Amino acid sequence: MENLTLKLIDQRFLPHELKIFETTEFEEVIFAIKNMAVRGSPAIGATAAYGMALASSQKMNAKQAAKALRGSRPTGYDLFFAVDFMLTAIEKGEDPLKAAKKYAEEVENRCKAIGLHGEKIIEDGFRILTHCNAGALATVDYGTALSPIRFAHYKGKKIFVYVDETRPKLQGAKLTAWELNQEGIDHAIIADNAAGHFMRKGEIDMVMVGADRITSTGDFANKIGTYEKAVLAKENKIPFYVAAPMNTFDFSLKNGEDIVIEERSEEEVLEINGHSIAPKGSRARNPVFDVTPSNYVTGFITERGILSRKELKKVRK
Ligand code: MRU
Repeated sequence: MENLTLKLIDQRFLPHELKIFETTEFEEVIFAIKNMAVRGSPAIGATAAYGMALASSQKMNAKQAAKALRGSRPTGYDLFFAVDFMLTAIEKGEDPLKAAKKYAEEVENRCKAIGLHGEKIIEDGFRILTHCNAGALATVDYGTALSPIRFAHYKGKKIFVYVDETRPKLQGAKLTAWELNQEGIDHAIIADNAAGHFMRKGEIDMVMVGADRITSTGDFANKIGTYEKAVLAKENKIPFYVAAPMNTFDFSLKNGEDIVIEERSEEEVLEINGHSIAPKGSRARNPVFDVTPSNYVTGFITERGILSRKELKKVRK
């Protein structure tokens, strides 16, 4: 295997520029994940799978490549799942590129199935709140939380999506809105602190989010701000769904407290698009995920169907 080139949509430049991040270097795969040229747990997983194939094409030691990839971002489980999948394939003597393709195709199929299951609970006229970007960009195609929304739209249901802007990196305003625009799905970007207002006014019928890591009891990590949306949804009696493939479930963990939460640079909070918005000398804290306890979740939309948190116990990969 020679001259492998990895190509990714560089998510740092959307929505205004569609640039491709192209590399033949393993180190640049790590760079792309760390610097969020690629982001979203399932997309990071698929990238890591190809990263392992690239490492192998360069005769890098697979265990060392796996270690470097595992160290790139700590919270999303798909990365770890993908690296283990690739290590097993390599140990069995399978072609690493074929294994990576298989992994990515499986993610795509899982997301399609999530859409087909999840579409059924979206009623015509529903107004849905989503947080961060859990769309095609964050996966391989279709998305997780955006997949049921896509299929409801394809079926002709009239839906409206409230898109949390999702500070500090603005994945909602930049990426989710870009995807919804491409599909012609009606939506409005709202400030992160506006969701409670719309919920109380009865303007949101359902919340649908993705996940970065889900424990065996259903506690889950997702983009910072998800927890407060879940609490608000419960207070306002609005169903709250989490859409994720089984690759995001970490059955080795029981409780949300066991999930490692990534804390990124202060600049991401102190600046917007590289422009300072805070007084010089002010510090910031930047945990980029939070944990929502499972009792806030109405159901998990997976490729195996829609599962209650109690049903998770019966499920194993
Ligand atoms: O920091 P990010 O942009 O990688 O965080 C992404 C999220 O939190 C998504 O909601 C999650 O990965 C689900 S994506 C299908």
